[in-house]
Amino acid sequence: MIDIERDPQTADEKAGGETPFRGMGETASMDTAQAQAPEVTETVREVIFDVKELQVTYPNASAPAVDKISFEMGKNEITALIGPSGCGKSTMLRCLNRMNDLIVGTNVTGQILYHGEDLYGPNVDAVQVRKRIGMVFQKPNPFPKSIYENIAFGPRIIGMEGDMDQIVETALRRGALWDEVKDRLKDNAFGMSGGQQQRLCIARCLAVAPDVILMDEPCSALDPISTGKIEDLMIELKQDYSIVIVTHNMQQAARISDKTAFFVVSLDENDNRTGTVVEFDDTEKIFTNPADERTEAYVTGKMG
Ligand SMILES: Nc1ncnc2c1ncn2[C@@H]1O[C@H](COP(=O)(O)OP(=O)(O)O)[C@@H](O)[C@H]1O
Ligand SMILES: [Mg+2]
Repeated sequence: MIDIERDPQTADEKAGGETPFRGMGETASMDTAQAQAPEVTETVREVIFDVKELQVTYPNASAPAVDKISFEMGKNEITALIGPSGCGKSTMLRCLNRMNDLIVGTNVTGQILYHGEDLYGPNVDAVQVRKRIGMVFQKPNPFPKSIYENIAFGPRIIGMEGDMDQIVETALRRGALWDEVKDRLKDNAFGMSGGQQQRLCIARCLAVAPDVILMDEPCSALDPISTGKIEDLMIELKQDYSIVIVTHNMQQAARISDKTAFFVVSLDENDNRTGTVVEFDDTEKIFTNPADERTEAYVTGKMG
């Protein structure tokens, strides 16, 4: 589908129009439609990820960690994954950039279409995938290097063209960090506050011009003020990127996300735990008028 009301200059175009996934959903007809349709105001939702019957089984596990997960995530949307601990939110998130490939012996079945193409297809390079689909973790994990070097590292590895000082400044500005660090770019990143370190990790992710940002409980180690800054940043970033966030903070999901997937875990006869999505809908609907009673119990705090 085509989003005909896009920001005329997308993240890809800002990075010089190069994407490792040219041909992976970024079709010529899409570019033409955007170029020719400035006065059309109707917006069609563009699907970034279409997950179909996803099942993930870890090595030596007697039951899948997640099963029967099917829903779509849209472009320029924030999708929240919520649900009790151990229900497979991180497992599902890691499938979206093939991080689970790194756990040898993990079996992923079903399908994930990324811009309409099979993310696990034989011709897809998982390393390329992780460039386009960045990830931010629960605990800020800057490299033990200067602020500048933390940002410059990724662009250098992928051989990004352009003035490195400018690349670093742009990423730090997009990460809402520039004004706080511009006079100490050579300082070690470990000297920053936790909230600043997390924004540095987001900026590091933005520096390589991703398409999607995955975040696994990015604020759970942060104080409320730092959390608020990251939430504001996410809302700003969704204009140019698509974001999928795992959060155990339901107020956060309600505040920032467009769509919410609610996970539960069930036990089989041998007490093996398997997570699945029981409800996926507009965040407003999930929090005000959910269809499933388990969702209602969770969002009203009766279960969790
Ligand atoms: N690397 C792993 N190896 C084996 N089992 C794992 C691994 N990571 C997670 N699991 C198991 O998968 C299930 C789902 O975990 P996880 O995706 O981390 O849930 P959540 O993020 O919702 O808390 C849990 O039972 C957990 O123990
Ligand atoms: Mg988790």
